[in-house]
Amino acid sequence: MSAEFKNNKGVCIWLTGLPCAGKTTLAKGLYQFLKEKGVKVKLYDGDKVRKTISKDLGFSKEDRIENMRRVALRALEDVKNGYTVIVALVSPYKAARELIRKMFENGSFIEVFVDAPLEVCEMRDAKGLYKMAREGLIKGFTGIDDPYEPPEAPEVHLDTTKLTPEESARKIVEYLVREGFLLDKD
Ligand code: ADX
Repeated sequence: MSAEFKNNKGVCIWLTGLPCAGKTTLAKGLYQFLKEKGVKVKLYDGDKVRKTISKDLGFSKEDRIENMRRVALRALEDVKNGYTVIVALVSPYKAARELIRKMFENGSFIEVFVDAPLEVCEMRDAKGLYKMAREGLIKGFTGIDDPYEPPEAPEVHLDTTKLTPEESARKIVEYLVREGFLLDKD
């Protein structure tokens, strides 16, 4: 792979998956990799987004959709300005993701399914939230008592039980090169 990408087309890489599926680790690794390669890149991660632009929102269906919409509107603006935008949100509802896809023109929305079975995510439980959800201390937790609707035809499908974060990031980069979003020529 070239040392630097000389040109890039704006694109939104939307990572969706259960809590603890590996979205944040992948997003940070991919961000770092692209930055080092000279790509204009931005990252919107759920944990940060919920402390900033969505800090007034909770986890009802309406609020999650509003959370996604706010991020999508910003990402859309960034894509128009030529950025490669990485979004890492649980984004559990299929119809809402499809609406967001329609906001982006000419295929500049890349849905990436960060896939790990619920049992694996629950075992990882980085913040202990699954445990709290099982104990009924958190209501409406994705995967426990709120649905996660997996993508049916994502552009990229990553099994994080088999791939390292580096391998996952590489698969996304390969996709972007193949589809002409990252170019090594001026
Ligand atoms: S989304 O559903 O609106 O896309 P988002 O990605 O912003 O979710 O936030 C998910 C993060 O919020 C999780 O990683 C977890 O740390 C935390 N969280 C707190 N409550 C919930 C809940 N009820 N369901 C899912 N995640 C929750």
